[in-house]
Amino acid sequence: MGLLGAGVVGSGTLDLLARRGEQIARSIGARLQVRRVLVRDLARPRAVTIPADQLTTDPSTILDDPSIDVVVELMGGENPAVEYIARALANQKHVVTANKEVIAKHGPELLDLANRNDVNLFFEASVGGGIPVISVLRHDLIANEITSLRAIINGTTNFILTAMEQGRSYDEALAEAQRLGYAESDPSNDVRGTDAVYKLAILSTLAFRTNVRPSQIGCVGIDQLRQKDFKHAAGMGYVIKLLASADVGAKGIVASVRPTLIPTSHHLASVKGVFNAVLLDGDQIDKFMLYGQGAGARPTASAVVADLCAIAHNLQRGVIDRIEIAPQDRPIVDPGDMLSRYYLRLQVADRPGVLAQIAQVLATKAISISSVMQHETDETTGVAEIVIMTHAAVERDSAAALAEIRHLDSVREISAVLRVER
Ligand SMILES: NC(=O)c1ccc[n+]([C@@H]2O[C@H](COP(=O)([O-])OP(=O)(O)OC[C@H]3O[C@@H](n4cnc5c(N)ncnc54)[C@H](OP(=O)(O)O)[C@@H]3O)[C@@H](O)[C@H]2O)c1
Repeated sequence: MGLLGAGVVGSGTLDLLARRGEQIARSIGARLQVRRVLVRDLARPRAVTIPADQLTTDPSTILDDPSIDVVVELMGGENPAVEYIARALANQKHVVTANKEVIAKHGPELLDLANRNDVNLFFEASVGGGIPVISVLRHDLIANEITSLRAIINGTTNFILTAMEQGRSYDEALAEAQRLGYAESDPSNDVRGTDAVYKLAILSTLAFRTNVRPSQIGCVGIDQLRQKDFKHAAGMGYVIKLLASADVGAKGIVASVRPTLIPTSHHLASVKGVFNAVLLDGDQIDKFMLYGQGAGARPTASAVVADLCAIAHNLQRGVIDRIEIAPQDRPIVDPGDMLSRYYLRLQVADRPGVLAQIAQVLATKAISISSVMQHETDETTGVAEIVIMTHAAVERDSAAALAEIRHLDSVREISAVLRVER
């Protein structure tokens, strides 16, 4: 095989193959042999020793070498990774990738290309690192109609939210995540929800056998959250999570990534720190949950090597793992149609009649209030903070109501708008 990339996951994969190669060879009846490793910088120090004659900066020495059966793409980013994967598949090489962006944006077309060239395309490491969720959706739950999916699939944001739950501010929690290597120096892909959107696109495409594109998934990040939201949530029996959710409803599939209040009794409420979990609802199995480490060199390499072993098995039996993504082809509903309860935190003038004004605007959109709490008044500015919990409302209606509320002269700021999960 040829590896494209020898960074965190590439080095982890090479290290695992070096340590477990013999044992793996005995159990699968074939030896996984690395022929070449593509990198950008030949001189860069690496976490593993790679023989100099294996390292290359020329992708064609892997993609066009007929002696290479399997290409393992661990470079990351959309380009040139997607071109390299497509070229490998067109050259009838099996491909393993950990690249969520490429699979989320181009997965169905690449799977189709793999099918047409009679080769396997595996991507277990692209979602949930060490959690074998792709294989479960591809194989183990194939006899189920999956109706709903809830997931915590970004370890960085879950680490930050857990630290905030324990009393840290957003900036302190982010700095700690960066110090421990969980967050990159530019954390925007994680904290703005983009990474979770890619993973949710992959999971919902497989779960619902319908192509769900990242652009069809609603996305709100965690950067609006403040420490006080965690305190208010805890007081009402909730924790806050960046929840990826997708449901099949009467109109079609609706999917979104949102900071969400989750009851402390919910299965996902106890998923802390960098851990990930995926909760599925299937018509044969009912509720089913997978839990484990979502990233890191060792868990991710475990998934990459499992895919390599599956390909080695298939090669020996002369079969390929076909997957047809869009036999059901259900419509994708605008996330604005999603029905949910809401937590609203607002800064308002501390004077009589303010609540009645807000309630009236909400009522025009048929949104009723379930509870209101006034938390503190700043005596110098006369501004009070209130938290409103609504009953279930359509997201589009609640956004329209909030746009009006923002313009009331008694409202200084809408500080947080969070979904509330049952
Ligand atoms: N890190 C995780 O915990 C994790 C978990 C799950 C999935 N993933 C996915 O795994 C993939 C790899 O992530 P990573 O963290 O291992 O990344 P990384 O540490 O940045 O490593 C990337 C590697 O690819 C090489 N590379 C990048 N662009 C290249 C190009 N244009 N030509 C040649 N070589 C190139 C780099 O070469 P140089 O070393 O010479 O710069 C480096 O060896 C990504 O798709 C990521 O989303 C990562």
